[in-house]
Amino acid sequence: MTSTLWPLLLLTITYSLFFSNTLATDANELKTYIVYMGDVPKGSLSATTSRHTNMLQEVLGSRASKSLLRSYKRSFNGFVAKLTEHERNRIAGMEGVVSVFPSQTKQPLTTRSWDFMGFPQDVKRAPLESDVIVGMLDTGVWPESDSFKDDGFGPPPAKWKGSCDSKNFTCNNKLIGAKYYNSEARAEDELSARDTEGHGTHTASTAAGRAVPNTSLLGLANGTARGGVPSARIAVYKICFPGGCSDADILAAFDDAIADGVDIISLSVGGSFPLDYFEDSIAIGAFHSMKNGILTSNAAGNSGPGLGSITNLSPWSLSVAASSIDRKFLTQIVLGNNMTYEGPAINTFDGAVHPIVYGASVPNTKQGFTSDESRYCEQDSLDPTAVKNKIVVCEDLDGPQNALLSGASGVVIDGDLGYEDFAFSWPLPTTYLSSKDGKGVLAYINSTTTPSASILKSIEPVDKTAPVVVSFSSRGPSLITLDLLKPDLTAPGVDILAAWSQDTTVTGDEGDTRVVPYNIISGTSMSCPHASGAAAYVKSFHPTWSPAAIKSALMTTAAPMSSTKNTDAEFAYGSGHIDPLKAVDPGLVYDAGEADFVSFLCGQGYNATTLKIVTGDASACSAANNATVWDLNYPSFALSTPKSGSIVRTFNRTVTNVGAAQSTYQATVNTPSGLEVKINPNSLAFNAVGEKQSFVVTVSATVGSNMLSGSLVWSDGVHNVTSPIVAFTTS
Ligand SMILES: *[C@@H]1O[C@H](CO)[C@@H](O)[C@H](O)[C@H]1NC(C)=O
Ligand SMILES: *[C@@H]1O[C@H](CO)[C@@H](O)[C@H](O)[C@H]1NC(C)=O
Ligand SMILES: *[C@@H]1O[C@H](CO)[C@@H](O)[C@H](O)[C@H]1NC(C)=O
Ligand SMILES: *[C@@H]1O[C@H](CO)[C@@H](O)[C@H](O)[C@H]1NC(C)=O
Ligand SMILES: *[C@@H]1O[C@H](CO)[C@@H](O)[C@H](O)[C@H]1NC(C)=O
Ligand SMILES: *[C@@H]1O[C@H](CO)[C@@H](O)[C@H](O)[C@H]1NC(C)=O
Ligand SMILES: *[C@@H]1O[C@H](CO)[C@@H](O)[C@H](O)[C@H]1NC(C)=O
Ligand SMILES: *[C@@H]1O[C@H](CO)[C@@H](O)[C@H](O)[C@H]1NC(C)=O
Ligand SMILES: *[C@@H]1O[C@H](CO)[C@@H](O)[C@H](O)[C@H]1NC(C)=O
Repeated sequence: MTSTLWPLLLLTITYSLFFSNTLATDANELKTYIVYMGDVPKGSLSATTSRHTNMLQEVLGSRASKSLLRSYKRSFNGFVAKLTEHERNRIAGMEGVVSVFPSQTKQPLTTRSWDFMGFPQDVKRAPLESDVIVGMLDTGVWPESDSFKDDGFGPPPAKWKGSCDSKNFTCNNKLIGAKYYNSEARAEDELSARDTEGHGTHTASTAAGRAVPNTSLLGLANGTARGGVPSARIAVYKICFPGGCSDADILAAFDDAIADGVDIISLSVGGSFPLDYFEDSIAIGAFHSMKNGILTSNAAGNSGPGLGSITNLSPWSLSVAASSIDRKFLTQIVLGNNMTYEGPAINTFDGAVHPIVYGASVPNTKQGFTSDESRYCEQDSLDPTAVKNKIVVCEDLDGPQNALLSGASGVVIDGDLGYEDFAFSWPLPTTYLSSKDGKGVLAYINSTTTPSASILKSIEPVDKTAPVVVSFSSRGPSLITLDLLKPDLTAPGVDILAAWSQDTTVTGDEGDTRVVPYNIISGTSMSCPHASGAAAYVKSFHPTWSPAAIKSALMTTAAPMSSTKNTDAEFAYGSGHIDPLKAVDPGLVYDAGEADFVSFLCGQGYNATTLKIVTGDASACSAANNATVWDLNYPSFALSTPKSGSIVRTFNRTVTNVGAAQSTYQATVNTPSGLEVKINPNSLAFNAVGEKQSFVVTVSATVGSNMLSGSLVWSDGVHNVTSPIVAFTTS
């Protein structure tokens, strides 16, 4: 495994930075390795641990017990140990070992959002919503948050086998489990499931937090904060610490969450480039969860808008893009001449009037800086006496933090620097203007000897363009399997209000003193738990549905998105905008289980070793167990061709009736010119719930430089079961 995973939020710009562990290795250096041995072992748990210890003893002698960091034994078999390269190679040759790979770190990459999805607070609820357990693999939670109070909750459901295994942390009947994993403990890490960063508290409350009225970020986004399934239980698995989220800990959390009995796993963590399934701890963990009937909902990633930037892309998990809701945050600056400009920024501070200066005019010459640095408000580049208690114009997104440390009282960011389609928070009054408006501010500063301005508290206008997939949301196609459409769908991930940790501030930046119970942040990290909450909602009505069936229900009922406003079309939004209410009653589902995914992997050229890394069991490829990607029973259709031209392909699909026993569905296709789609048969009659019917889709495409987007809709007059069909070239 060669990735670095981070929580997928964009709290600060630098959060999306990628750190890789590609230092030259010393042969005697001890590194953390995952010794992976496949499926859950037979025999007692303690026998498994002693087997792991014995294996290590054979190679390490007395150092073995100290070297063993963790045994995986509840949902799969293996262990984590500190080894040299030579020891690693010896263990890799031992019986039962599937693979030994280094554990790398990945980084964690009101709420109006549910209403915007057409999912009001008073929707119909399943009587047994309180039996649903959502597993959150993240930075932990702030257990005292109002979103996790258990008033009115009975004891956890009988199936729950987890525990509250964390220092300085009290669980309750809402927050029923807490564990933490830290194989690479750093001295400064607080060894507890308590969230010190805010990210995990935010995602958990978005997926399954109670409804808490009258929440806001210091008055902004005022309303009722709630999760998708307010009566469901939350189990927390803290895998991310300030240094990142290691593969060893991600797999440990999957091992426990599956055995503990969670129903849905929500994972807003990712790396920065796509990995093949057998190299990706998240894909491997999600495969085991799928085998155990648990859907894993993943953030698609924050590496957009380039095509092919999606990272969490296994077909057995749900990949969620991030889009806007109909509320945006704008911050206005009123100049001394009463000219007003506004730009995207979240500003909780009240607008006092201050003198305003251009950073380029006030370099810290004493420390050798010139206007070449101070225009960008680089660190220490501003003259502290010249900016004290003034608003400073900076031409960089990092300007506000540096200006604050130099004594400024506000910042205007000037420039078309990207990130215009959502709003950041900064630790002091800040607005973010286009270059054109920024020039207006500079002209005003030039026009008077006493320029002044005030930056007002943000306003929250309606965003009529929503939903639009945000620029940072990772785009398809999947570079691992081109003909499998990813992302799967989109959900709100822009400027979302949800619960926050009291151990940090609004921005977490030096000099920020605002400790808040609810905060507004953006990321595919925020859209993922919306989808997890929606999946839990579907599961509460249909406890026996497979992960693929729940995923199909969410995808085939998603609302269409505009390909005019989203020029990357399906590569941005997949099947469309999630609609949890409709997903409860999809009519038909495209189901798939372990055997189908194994067959798919065989068709992808997996050999016995790589297959076993993913499945952990004795599954094998054979002529009969070897399907093309086009025959994986997926709820969407993708067809790539290396260069422009004509291409024809058939796709086999099977749908399962989950609507009325007696029903007849007719196929309709919508296609642009250049795309021809035939469905055979184009009518399906069902006589029972659970009955399956198969059909063949023949796609003929003449592909140029643009992707061709069409759709297939099966309709019985009550349900529309919609799948996107895309064809594109990779050149
Ligand atoms: C418990 O957590 C709180 C909040 O992070 C911290 O202030 C406190 O010191 C911790 N207590 C212990 C005993 O670790
Ligand atoms: C809502 O919260 C604000 C600020 O905390 C408080 O002043 C106000 O009284 C609260 N309103 C209601 C209806 O609870
Ligand atoms: C938030 O809205 C509620 C009613 O919707 C109102 O009572 C409350 O005062 C508002 N709070 C703030 C801080 O604006
Ligand atoms: C700006 O507007 C305020 C309030 O409307 C007014 O009192 C003031 O004279 C105006 N200043 C200028 C320079 O126009
Ligand atoms: C402001 O004045 C400076 C120096 O006189 C000049 O170089 C600059 O172009 C002016 N800026 C604007 C926006 O008018
Ligand atoms: C199996 O596939 C992997 C990845 O493609 C490759 O590195 C490995 O050598 C293959 N193993 C065998 C036994 O062919
Ligand atoms: C699976 O199918 C592919 C392509 O049709 C073929 O190259 C491969 O040998 C098959 N594998 C097995 C195990 O039959
Ligand atoms: C796909 O469907 C066609 C027509 O029913 C059938 O002949 C073919 O064997 C199927 N292929 C697979 C891989 O199931
Ligand atoms: C199904 O789609 C048709 C055509 O777009 C539309 O008229 C109809 O309202 C839809 N039905 C449902 C239940 O969404």
